[in-house]
Amino acid sequence: MQTLSRPSWPTQAYIDGKWVETERRFPVHSPATGEMLAEVADCGAKEGAAAIESAVRAFASWSKTTAYERSAVLLRWHALILEHEAVLAELMAREMGKPVTEGRGEVKYAASFALWFGEEAKRVYGELIPTHRADKRLMVMKKPVGPVYGITPWNFPAGMITRKAAPALAAGCTYISKPAEQTPLTALYLAKLWEEAGGPAGTLQVLPALDPEPVSQVMFDDTRVRKLTFTGSTAVGKKLYAQSAATMKRISLELGGHAPYIVFEDADLDRAVKDVVACKFRNAGQVCVSANRIYVADAIYDTFAERLVRSVSALRVGDPLDAASQIGPLVDRQGFDKVQAHVTDALERGATARAGGKAKEGLFFEPTVLTGIGAGSRLLTEETFGPVAPLLRFSSEDEAVRLANDTPYGLAGYVWTRDLGRAFRVAEALEYGIVGVNDPVPSAAQAPFGGVKDSGIGREGGRQGIEEYLEVRYISMGLPG
Ligand code: SIN
Repeated sequence: MQTLSRPSWPTQAYIDGKWVETERRFPVHSPATGEMLAEVADCGAKEGAAAIESAVRAFASWSKTTAYERSAVLLRWHALILEHEAVLAELMAREMGKPVTEGRGEVKYAASFALWFGEEAKRVYGELIPTHRADKRLMVMKKPVGPVYGITPWNFPAGMITRKAAPALAAGCTYISKPAEQTPLTALYLAKLWEEAGGPAGTLQVLPALDPEPVSQVMFDDTRVRKLTFTGSTAVGKKLYAQSAATMKRISLELGGHAPYIVFEDADLDRAVKDVVACKFRNAGQVCVSANRIYVADAIYDTFAERLVRSVSALRVGDPLDAASQIGPLVDRQGFDKVQAHVTDALERGATARAGGKAKEGLFFEPTVLTGIGAGSRLLTEETFGPVAPLLRFSSEDEAVRLANDTPYGLAGYVWTRDLGRAFRVAEALEYGIVGVNDPVPSAAQAPFGGVKDSGIGREGGRQGIEEYLEVRYISMGLPG
């Protein structure tokens, strides 16, 4: 395996095209071993202010480049990210515990946003509107929003950055990144590759911070930062939404979910079991679109449960740097405690752990299947963000849809059936931004990702993704004479 020698991990902040030292640094630990991996620049208000000046300066020229020029940089970034797949996967395994084989998948996913939006840059079209007067011409053109501030989570340290930065940069915006404090190393490495790709100073900047407040506050206070894009919890998203109001920022919020996974009696059972393992247990369940409530038709419940227990018990938990590991540790003590609390609460309310159910050493938790979930169990309404699959029963299509929609969240929902009519009926009835029909992993750079209700505002990916970084400019032109 191609490995990264430690001194070449960038650990300074990347501001105005330079690697910048800060007064303080903060440690980054491996959740698998507890080992300290690096001490990283800890940015505050001063670095935030410097980044805004640079982003504003860079916007003046980057926004005037042609789509073809921006596309060329993005496509070079795409190639470099792929070239560094092994190193980035290793970095993610070390700093957040994602198994390295899965990490390689994330790197390809992350790179695909640079490719997709590198191409989409060239398809930002305007409009000519039929006029109501012979002496006027009415036109619409699209302009980049301006400097963007992006706050991203630790669960996809590479993919969540490129899913925001690539459309922003393709549109002609500049992008200031505040990565999660657990995973700054991947973010800084992406900045290093952007620099290598020829990204001009100030177009992409990375400001790690242990406490995000001081950096974020200067962004919220400055009218020149025109947009906030955030992926994270609904509670924090709502706070940032309110804070963005004072300077009237455009916003995109990709927030929490509570995904239902409905398996009808006519489903391909082998596939539904295999796929729920992929949906629920990838990244140890630390995924916004992971199944949280698995509803299985009465008629097949017992068989489904038995097969799922067998598959989950066979999952290999272990060192994320080992290519054979399928489940790594939870990211930190807080995440681990929540998983443990949800399982304990469910067991106390009468559930049975048919697989797992217990903590292992350190931050590792056994892949778990729970049946007999009692009413009021926390995991029925709160996002567990861990390797825990709760199985529930239903007896009719109407009941399944009603239960699935009974949540304030609306990010992703899933349905397993071979009945085409039912597939459409249920997909249309589910109040979710994304519906996987016989598909456990619907995410793709060319498709719109995002939720409704408490799961957020806006879409990432797809042709919709770049629109989030564009303003509509209407020009009404009177013709002379
Ligand atoms: C997320 O957890 O927000 C990202 C999941 C994905 O892109 O599939």
